[in-house]
Amino acid sequence: MSEKINLLNLKAPGCWINDPNGFIYYRGKYHLFYQCFPYAAFWGTMHWGHAVSKDLIHWEHKGLALIPSKHYDRNGIFSGSAIDVEGRLYLYYTGIVYAGEEPENIHLSASGDSRQCQAMLISENADDFDNFNSKRLLIAPIEDRELADPGDCRDPKVFRHGERFYMCLGSTHEKRRGVLIMYSSINAVDWEYFCRLESDRLGHTLECPDLFKLSGRWLLLGSPMGMWKGRADYDSQALIYNAGFDPDRGELSLMDEGRLLDYGLELYAPQSNTDACGRRVYIAWMRMQRPMRAGGNAAADGRSWNGMMCLPRLLELRDGEIYTPVHPDIRSFFKAEECMERSISGRRASIRDGKGRLFTELSEGEEIEIDGYKISLSSKRLICDRGSLVPEGLSVSKRAGTPCIADSCELEIYWDEDIVEIFVNDGQYVLSLLSYRNAITE
Ligand code: FRU
Repeated sequence: MSEKINLLNLKAPGCWINDPNGFIYYRGKYHLFYQCFPYAAFWGTMHWGHAVSKDLIHWEHKGLALIPSKHYDRNGIFSGSAIDVEGRLYLYYTGIVYAGEEPENIHLSASGDSRQCQAMLISENADDFDNFNSKRLLIAPIEDRELADPGDCRDPKVFRHGERFYMCLGSTHEKRRGVLIMYSSINAVDWEYFCRLESDRLGHTLECPDLFKLSGRWLLLGSPMGMWKGRADYDSQALIYNAGFDPDRGELSLMDEGRLLDYGLELYAPQSNTDACGRRVYIAWMRMQRPMRAGGNAAADGRSWNGMMCLPRLLELRDGEIYTPVHPDIRSFFKAEECMERSISGRRASIRDGKGRLFTELSEGEEIEIDGYKISLSSKRLICDRGSLVPEGLSVSKRAGTPCIADSCELEIYWDEDIVEIFVNDGQYVLSLLSYRNAITE
């Protein structure tokens, strides 16, 4: 997967990728940075890869934007975000320094311990990223463990509210309770501690917090770790919470336990921003399980790859409920005159460039099959079973399902050879699963 242009889902360009970073509509284009280990199809010293799109459909890979270059980020540029400040692009990230490198793989920390600081790079135009002269250290590792943990405090998500800027960070209290810690600033460069929230609802450690206001309500996207102990695939999932945030008093709270953003198994580390029309849109990493050092998916050119993004989705409140429909621009890719038609379980699907889309209804007991995915409504839950696709030797769950819906539901389904994304009742629930069809399982 090392083509320069990806259609719809962004995929790793012949290497490893994870979280979306710095997702922003800037000077008429969408920019999507992402966690990237450029040398192999497994995780290692993090860099930021960069892709650009005019329409959320065609993504052009631009190569690396942020690379380790300073004493405070020598072992990696972890996740972060972007804002536009008077026409310049401010990129915020976590700088990593390992306690010691693993002798046989210097891209890993020997003990797992690191020190994590917050830093930024200012780009004049989103084309040039001067990693030597335009970076700044903003917040040194936090030593006061009552506030945060110097080895687990990361993923700055910066937003503007009123006259000030706010930065959310994910952390932990003694690896037992997740912490959301916030800083504030008047100029987006000089930061001071603002407030914090510690809760069991944030797992043992919180990653990638993203707080924003939507139709008058504060919502928090978060990736709490360790909440699903013993689960076969992953013990962490992305949640969305109703939150309370009072910027005048510096008060922060959670109003509920959070609900899954996607009912599949792989979606993680979502990041949101506003789109060209001011709507709230998010994108997230679809994790791919692989033996750590063995690699990823086979690609035509022989370079294996691991990691991709879900389709961009809107976040909306309808009658007080959170909906996450596919971003409306995605629909325009399947213009009737440019698509082929294909019959799927007696329904007409649209196909273009190896991507498919099907609008349909499903009633209790019915099942349709799309390229090996079996999708059914059973006991009022939408179930997707990928059992026939997963290669032997790969231990991942075969099925996933939504909570109870009703005796029938409307579906909007997108798929290609690597993924299926099922939007139920226009985003009431979403269920996304990888196929693992091209997995290398030696
Ligand atoms: C989430 C995460 C982040 C971190 C990044 C490192 O998947 O662990 O907390 O910044 O990935 O690649």
